[in-house]
Amino acid sequence: MQLLDGKYVSEKLKQEITAEAAAVLATRGRQPHLVAILVGNDGGSETYVASKMKNCQKVGFKSTLIRYDNSVSEEELLNKIEEINQDTEVDGLIVQLPLPKHIDPEKVTEKIDYRKDVDGFHPINLGRMMRNLPCFIPATPYGILLMLKEYKIETSGLHCVVIGRSNIVGSPMSILMARDAKPGNCTVTLTHSKTRNLNEIVRSADIIIAAIGKKNFITVDMVKEGAVVIDVGINREVSTETKSGYKLYGDVDFKNVAQKCSWITPVPGGVGLMTIVGLLKNTLASAKKEIYS
Ligand code: GUN
Repeated sequence: MQLLDGKYVSEKLKQEITAEAAAVLATRGRQPHLVAILVGNDGGSETYVASKMKNCQKVGFKSTLIRYDNSVSEEELLNKIEEINQDTEVDGLIVQLPLPKHIDPEKVTEKIDYRKDVDGFHPINLGRMMRNLPCFIPATPYGILLMLKEYKIETSGLHCVVIGRSNIVGSPMSILMARDAKPGNCTVTLTHSKTRNLNEIVRSADIIIAAIGKKNFITVDMVKEGAVVIDVGINREVSTETKSGYKLYGDVDFKNVAQKCSWITPVPGGVGLMTIVGLLKNTLASAKKEIYS
């Protein structure tokens, strides 16, 4: 087994992004700028947004965090998004999910100007992705593609099984792996909670992408010898072992699966770090007007 090392790849790519951000500053007179909106104080969301902001600073981007408490109205949030859409000094805007129940995430997603939608969640970006046109690709799938590319993992003609059909990871990932691209050209099976014979299907996979959100869901008996295993799970459990007070577990039983597969991403230190890189690359592309002018 060899490790798909998110720490190594993300640091390498962040060095490249840092150089490009400096070039943007030199030519355009300002840094790439990401705005994040965080509603409420969900522990996981707090951690992810803090990490996004910290990494922006690391690579020389400007970052702005706008916080609301849980009681913010949908209207107030939509008005703020409109204001940021109009701000020519902002390149990327993300609204951290999940949102409180009284706010419709579809309205929020569609309100964000697709030209600043560096999360790649807007229907225009998803539609363009389907058609293999330039677009912002959702950050986690984008990070996974960058990881596969870095390690020159062959995907063409192989069977990729994606477990989980979320809008954020599973659904876009299945489309990307089937595209005529590199990485891509897979025969893709998208599985979910209603899938019958799941274990058998996963066992036939050359590439497994686990995005279910259940600790140790993928066990060694579900993995074919030599498969490539991508673990998207970030399952947080309270722990006295760590400084943060939480321990992270993937969707894959790493210890046992690692004995049988060819490549595997660890948790932590895998896909999570690459998600940040996907977001930074989208923000940089927006600042450089590479996708939309
Ligand atoms: N919640 C979980 N993952 C994400 C993400 O990639 N972007 C946003 N905005 N919210 C999330």
